[in-house]
Amino acid sequence: MTAEIAVIGGTGLYAMMDDFEMTHQEIINTPYGEASSPLVFGELHGKQVVFLARHGFTHRLPPHRINYRANIWMLKKAGVKKILAVNAVGSINDKFPPENIVIPDQIIDYSWGREHTFYAEELTRVVHIDFTFPYSISLRQTIIRAAKNKQMNLEENAVYGCTQGPRLESAAEVKRLSRDGCDLIGMTGMPEASLARELSVDYASISVVANWAAGINGNEISMEQIDYHLQKGMEKVKQLITETVRIS
Ligand code: HPA
Repeated sequence: MTAEIAVIGGTGLYAMMDDFEMTHQEIINTPYGEASSPLVFGELHGKQVVFLARHGFTHRLPPHRINYRANIWMLKKAGVKKILAVNAVGSINDKFPPENIVIPDQIIDYSWGREHTFYAEELTRVVHIDFTFPYSISLRQTIIRAAKNKQMNLEENAVYGCTQGPRLESAAEVKRLSRDGCDLIGMTGMPEASLARELSVDYASISVVANWAAGINGNEISMEQIDYHLQKGMEKVKQLITETVRIS
């Protein structure tokens, strides 16, 4: 079974897609070990779409324990050409309050100790992929067009800083990230994006602002707050994914 478009998202995102008709689930063995979840195949607007739950179906995998290589390799093996990656983020930029949807166009990677490349073993030569524009320009354009079709407000330019987690940042760390030029902070954007590039799969992030990053509004961050904003933001995300798939 193949599908051209994949959605990597949180648990049960596929179940929230109104028009998604699930056909079956599949586990593909990979040379890199176990992926986060089985692939969930189905149809959305007559197009084959496949979902992968990044943290597992029961949300058991923290960001630094996700097997990003197995996930991306499995999607490539399933015939995927485009990945819509849904990421929860904290916002540093006062133009992007909680519940906003942002399509970042740049990345700064602060994560460490993650298996981050397919080009590590049994090489006949060293490979350096280009990562000037870390997200697929054409896929970003399709998402932006989908948002316009739905008259949805969308932020089109932002720098995504990927931190290691699983803890949130200190206020001083957020200040530093801001000085570096980050607008958003998340824990799962890397090495997912660069692994997709290594396998020539188009990849773009649909980032959902869950909270103001640490120290931005002077308050501590609560999980209740994050869950509340995420749930509301996901309503917009599912509409955006549905329209993106329709026009893809
Ligand atoms: N920091 C890092 N990752 C996150 C945050 C945050 O504030 N919110 C949601 N994911």
